[in-house]
Amino acid sequence: MNILTFRTNQELNAAGAGIITGLIQTNPRAVLGLATGSTPIGIYEELVSSFKKGLVSFKLATSFNLDEYAGLPLDHPESYHAYMDQHLFRHIDMPAAQRHIPNGTAADLEAECRRYDLLLEEAKQIDLQILGLGHNGHIGFNEPDQSLNSGTHVVKLRESTRQANARFFDSIEQVPTHALTMGVGMILKAKTILLVVRGKDKAEIVHEALTGPIRTEIPASLLQTHPNLVVLLDEEAGRCF
Ligand code: GLP
Repeated sequence: MNILTFRTNQELNAAGAGIITGLIQTNPRAVLGLATGSTPIGIYEELVSSFKKGLVSFKLATSFNLDEYAGLPLDHPESYHAYMDQHLFRHIDMPAAQRHIPNGTAADLEAECRRYDLLLEEAKQIDLQILGLGHNGHIGFNEPDQSLNSGTHVVKLRESTRQANARFFDSIEQVPTHALTMGVGMILKAKTILLVVRGKDKAEIVHEALTGPIRTEIPASLLQTHPNLVVLLDEEAGRCF
C-alpha cells in the first residue's frame, strides 16, 4: 500500500489526474473504474484540463462507474449519470458506447446487475479503479454488513449514507432508499486501486480501514488485501497516520 498525503487540494488533484493520464498515455485502451461523490470532482477537473491542453485522449478508453441510485431518473441532477456527464463525460472525447454506468431505472434491477457484470467480464479487468470513502467505511455503495457481495447488486442504503448524501438533494425524503453497486469482489479485481479521501471527518475511518482488522463491517478494510493500492489523502484526512 502506498499512502501519499498532500498539503493542498491542488496538489492532490494533480497527483490523481497524473496517475490516470499516465496510464492512458501508456495504454490508450485502458479500462477505468470511476467513482462519484464530492471527492473525485477536483481530479476530474484536472483530467478535463489535461484533455483540453491536448495532453491526453480518452477515445480508446473504456469506463465503468461503481454505482447508481435506484429509481432516480437518469436526467435527475443528482443521478450519477448526470454527475458523470457534468463533471467529465461532456468535456472529453470518450465515445458514449464506451462509458458504462448501472441503470437505476431498469424495470428489472436484478437483470440490470447481471447485465453489468457481463459487461465487466467482457472488459476482462479494470486497469485503474478510483474510489472515494463513505463515512461508515463504504466503498461504492457497499455498506457495512455481516457479509459482502462480490458482483453487482441492489443495496438498501443505510440511513447515515442517505443523510450524508442529503446535502445534494432538497430534503432527505428525496434521497433514494436503494442503489445498484459493483460488489467488493469486482472492485478488488482491478489491477490498481486509487483510494482518495479528503477532510477531517474521514480521518478516523480511513485510518481504521487501512490499519485496523479486515472486516466486512468496514468494507474499505478489504482494500488492505489488494496488492496495488494507492491512497491519496489531504492533510486533514491523513492526520491519524
Ligand atoms: C457516495 C458514493 C461513494 C462515495 C461516497 C463518499 O455514497 N456512492 O462512491 O465514495 O459516497 O462521497 P463524498 O466523496 O461526497 O464524501
